[in-house]
Amino acid sequence: MSLPKAELHLHIEGTLEPELAFALAARNGVALPYADTEALRKAYEFEDLQSFLNLYYELMTVLRTEQDFADLADAYLARAAAQGVRHAEIFFDPQAHGARGVGMGTVVEGLWRALGRSEETHGISTQLILCFLRDESAASALDTLRAAEPYLDRIAGIGLDSAEVGHPPAKFREVYEAAAALGLRRVAHAGEEGPPEYITEALDVLGVERVDHGLRCMEDPALVERLVRERIPLTLCPLSNVRLRAVDTLADHPLPAMLDAGLLCTVNSDDPAYFGGYAGDNFDAVRRTLGLSEDRLRELARNSFTASFLEHDEERRAR
Ligand code: ADE
Ligand code: ZN
Repeated sequence: MSLPKAELHLHIEGTLEPELAFALAARNGVALPYADTEALRKAYEFEDLQSFLNLYYELMTVLRTEQDFADLADAYLARAAAQGVRHAEIFFDPQAHGARGVGMGTVVEGLWRALGRSEETHGISTQLILCFLRDESAASALDTLRAAEPYLDRIAGIGLDSAEVGHPPAKFREVYEAAAALGLRRVAHAGEEGPPEYITEALDVLGVERVDHGLRCMEDPALVERLVRERIPLTLCPLSNVRLRAVDTLADHPLPAMLDAGLLCTVNSDDPAYFGGYAGDNFDAVRRTLGLSEDRLRELARNSFTASFLEHDEERRAR
């Protein structure tokens, strides 16, 4: 659906559609262990977050040059624009590219070729959020932040993603403090597969202003009350939750209960090439399956701007 909206939870590497993956593999002489796009699509059956991440990291090895990252971002922006996205805050995973020798400059400058002209070409304003891989060490995260320093004019904030369980937010206290001192905005994935305590820790130890997923807050009424009271936005990803089995079916998704509880929920696509839909597809799915009213859908679209960094920038300027 084309209700104007902001997308706040989107991994650019998760927008790599099979067709583009094969085109980039051919361009860069990378062999993919799948006969064709059809065979690759058949591998999109996930048991949990880790089984998805294995494929996600494997496929992104086709990304090598600045132009690859520019093509990836342009393809995403075109699809997002067609589904009503007007502003996008986009995650990227530099450590996953550094592992095969693709440096921070290649990733950021490549993405910027598309993002820097996105308002003119796609009608979408953008911000970049550098994510640390939480299953890598805290020292590696600090090295990554140092490597990003020459590019901070292009990077709005930091996030935390990858395998959640066993990697609590507090592991990254130091790098979040360093990022805050550099003036970067802070978000983190928490409560996707990990327990509600990780959400509390992300708020208290990392100082995040927004929680990515946050789904499992519903297991802790006191935490829900706090999130409502402090107006902490949650970036929910309903189709992702189904495909990664955080919920059994979309009909079981707690989004309606979360809205009823007064939580500042937003609807996003996470890794749309893998999970069966972009931002508008996620809106359509929750409308159809969860029976959300037009008022609720408008609330979700409004929340997406309220929860964005843009809103806070304006508030900051007004102060
Ligand atoms: N990286 C890409 N998608 C992710 C997700 N849904 N959770 C954690 N890390 C991710
Ligand atoms: Zn995510």
